[in-house]
Amino acid sequence: MTRLRTAILISGRGSNMDALLAAARAPDFPAEIALVLSNRPDAPGLAKAKAAGVAVAAVDHKIYAGREEFERSLQLVLETYRIDFICLAGFMRLFTPWFIGQWSGRMLNIHPALLPSYRGLHTHERALADGVKIHGCTVHFVVPEMDEGPIVAQAAVPVLDDDTPDTLGARVLAQEHVIYPLALRLVASGKVRVAGNRVLGAPGESTDALVAPAVL
Ligand code: GRF
Repeated sequence: MTRLRTAILISGRGSNMDALLAAARAPDFPAEIALVLSNRPDAPGLAKAKAAGVAVAAVDHKIYAGREEFERSLQLVLETYRIDFICLAGFMRLFTPWFIGQWSGRMLNIHPALLPSYRGLHTHERALADGVKIHGCTVHFVVPEMDEGPIVAQAAVPVLDDDTPDTLGARVLAQEHVIYPLALRLVASGKVRVAGNRVLGAPGESTDALVAPAVL
């Protein structure tokens, strides 16, 4: 089995990175995590990945004159590691259309809300303020528009009476750790295809497993 050489891009603690690294340890997992790359050299996730024996690199966005210069350095690092696929996991920089074009159909993101609701930041606060009863998370392909792109997997969680942004966020995060490895497994094994804005099963495959039930 050829495993898809995957880079995880992070900016912070890297709990989704941990979930992907753990899943990729399974011998039948169709992707190998060949690199963890951060725009913040001091990202806690980077130190964790290094301690776990994974190749790491940092491209500090602050030293570059602009977004394109930063992205060209990122691209060089990704090419050096012969990366085929990217998982954004709490990577807090927006990309230019140029970079996204380099990775079209080969870059996933995880977002802590049920897209297309609550694009952007502070999703748990906003869900509580709106009084929604169901919240969740989404893994999607990355397109030039922020927090848009074909949805690969979603998980829903209930919003409880005594929730705070932190308790709700923790319930969502636990589901992020479930659906991100699931989504990467299905995409990397070629079991899904993109049809317009929809991600469907490849011929003979079902994507039913991508819809996780609400969990308490
Ligand atoms: C997660 O909530 C993810 O959905 C969002 O950023 C956060 C990253 O957390 N994109 P972690 O670094 O994976 O713990």
